[in-house]
Amino acid sequence: MNPVYLDNNATTRVDLMMPFFTEQFGNPSSIHAFGASVGAAVRTARGQLQQLLGAAHDHEIIYTSGGTEANNTAILSALESMPDREEIVTSKVEHPAVLALCQHLEKIGRAKVHYIGVDSMGRLDIEAYRAALSEKTAVVSLMWANNETGTIFPIEGLADLAKEKGALFHTDAVQAVGKTPVSLKDSSIDMLSLSGHKLHAPKGIGALYVKRGVRFKPLLRGGHQERGRRAGTENAPAIIALGKAAELALTHMQDEQTRVKAMRDRLEKALLQAIPNCFVNGDIYDRLPNTCNIAFEYVEGEAILLHLNRAGIAASSGSACTSGSLEPSHVLRAMNIPFTAAHGSIRFSFSRDNVDADVDSVVETLPAIMEKLRQLSPFWPGAQQKQAEFKPVYA
Ligand SMILES: Cc1ncc(COP(=O)(O)O)c(C=O)c1O
Repeated sequence: MNPVYLDNNATTRVDLMMPFFTEQFGNPSSIHAFGASVGAAVRTARGQLQQLLGAAHDHEIIYTSGGTEANNTAILSALESMPDREEIVTSKVEHPAVLALCQHLEKIGRAKVHYIGVDSMGRLDIEAYRAALSEKTAVVSLMWANNETGTIFPIEGLADLAKEKGALFHTDAVQAVGKTPVSLKDSSIDMLSLSGHKLHAPKGIGALYVKRGVRFKPLLRGGHQERGRRAGTENAPAIIALGKAAELALTHMQDEQTRVKAMRDRLEKALLQAIPNCFVNGDIYDRLPNTCNIAFEYVEGEAILLHLNRAGIAASSGSACTSGSLEPSHVLRAMNIPFTAAHGSIRFSFSRDNVDADVDSVVETLPAIMEKLRQLSPFWPGAQQKQAEFKPVYA
């Protein structure tokens, strides 16, 4: 069986890395020919990103080391440039690249943070959001699309509401950019984060969009790179690959919306039919076209992943696996997914590299794995039935 990679929300295959590691090694800031050609390629990449984001100017794009740096920069910049406001509004389902910073800012007494909840489909509680916004809000930071469930927040409308209170609006669009159309020119979005490795560019490169006219304070100070907004010699090879990836993402956007979505839907339907006691996590009406998160009740997600991996299939678990903790993910907890289902939640995330045969492999493999695991699970009602039938004979 060919290996099947269905973990594209974690990272994607790199499209191309160009000759900028070898022959074209100049510093993009240098005046001589070695640097000038690289400088020109870095400028081209900025234009390619501008196109993908539908931004008004290429100078609205600042290269960063990834989504995490872009998120940190946006929130810290907003707090510093709005000294008379000390509140942040965010949600309970953000990526740790936002949540951990907000928790830290609260802990050191730098900001008061409102964490807005979601419903069982992962949709933001709009009334609670409206209620949290005030003249004290310095910045709102809400994700465009959720990395675990693919649920899309109505981000432009949420930005309009923030504007009414004079707050800055930032969106972590790391999972949205390249998968769903983005047009920033006429929106109320002040800042947007993206990450290269989610759209077939390398890891360790990303960007922060800052609308022209929005007050900005750099996170990294030093040289004059990025017009003084992000010091440090540019990661030129990665930037150039990011530009090319942005261009390709635009070309393939339609494919993502149709072919990739059709594969995702076929997988989801087939699994829901073949396997009892499972359901979809997330907003089935407004989701990224590539993401499918299914809760399989009464099984351990980690066990499913191990068996899938043995069969050559890479997916990812909705539960906190990095810490080795048994706590289900904060996203599924915020959605009030029952413990027995959150633990067995698996995310399958597609990219344009996937083919129909990948779906066939999962559909052929997973039902048998589930059957086996459930027989071993003490929580599976079938197992309880068996236990009840089992009458111990005491001597
Ligand atoms: C929604 C979201 N935000 C931020 C990040 C962090 O991006 P990076 O890995 O580029 O720092 C990720 C990565 O998984 C993500 O999914």
